[in-house]
Amino acid sequence: MRYVIRRARPDDLDKVIQLATDMVVHSVSPFRDISADQVKEFRRKDLQALAEAIKQPHVGLFIAEAENDRRFLGHVVVVCGYMESSTGESQGWVFDLSTVPDMWSQGIGRALMDQAEAFCIALGYKYLGLGVTTANDRAVTFYERLGFMEERKRMIKRLDVPEELLNVDPPRAVDAGEIGQTVVAPSEAP
Ligand SMILES: CC(C)(COP(=O)(O)OP(=O)(O)OC[C@H]1O[C@@H](n2cnc3c(N)ncnc32)[C@H](O)[C@@H]1OP(=O)(O)O)[C@@H](O)C(=O)NCCC(=O)NCCS
Repeated sequence: MRYVIRRARPDDLDKVIQLATDMVVHSVSPFRDISADQVKEFRRKDLQALAEAIKQPHVGLFIAEAENDRRFLGHVVVVCGYMESSTGESQGWVFDLSTVPDMWSQGIGRALMDQAEAFCIALGYKYLGLGVTTANDRAVTFYERLGFMEERKRMIKRLDVPEELLNVDPPRAVDAGEIGQTVVAPSEAP
């Protein structure tokens, strides 16, 4: 199928948000208790910010569209000027990439990522980063084939929190005495 990659317009946003919301189930962490539906709800709300974001020159939202019937096939959201927290360097960052499942493995994802790279290069950014859920094997393999390399690992540990302390938001003030005294072993005796 022939398709075009073009800049998204405001009237494309509903489809972009719907697809990104549906596809977020592939990025749900197996280590968290949150349900796929809750993640989708959060994602949908979070993506409302796109309406304002796409007015910014450093934000690229590109969509793939079938040439014949203009069917929406996927999108990529890339933001330039994103600060990398470990180095302070400014770089490009892929905030979302999704293609419609019945068109997977036909090169659309790659074409959208090519466009994201071209956008960063045109703005003078020499790095393009992204986060991908480790359990999302398909996406990890996909990015590796495109030349992305694992740079850092984000790790998580589940903590044993008593029921009565769960879901405290905003966090309550905790007195140091409440969490016990920390005993630090003395360094070598003088
Ligand atoms: C990840 C995703 C965007 C890939 O889109 P796509 O349109 O299927 O990608 P492409 O067809 O362009 O595939 C590109 C490469 O991945 C390879 N690939 C395709 N299917 C694959 C599979 N099942 N496993 C591993 N690699 C695969 C292709 O062979 C191709 O490599 P090549 O050109 O060197 O042969 C798509 O699967 C998707 O929307 N997933 C759900 C959302 C998601 O996980 N997004 C990423 C979140 S970080």
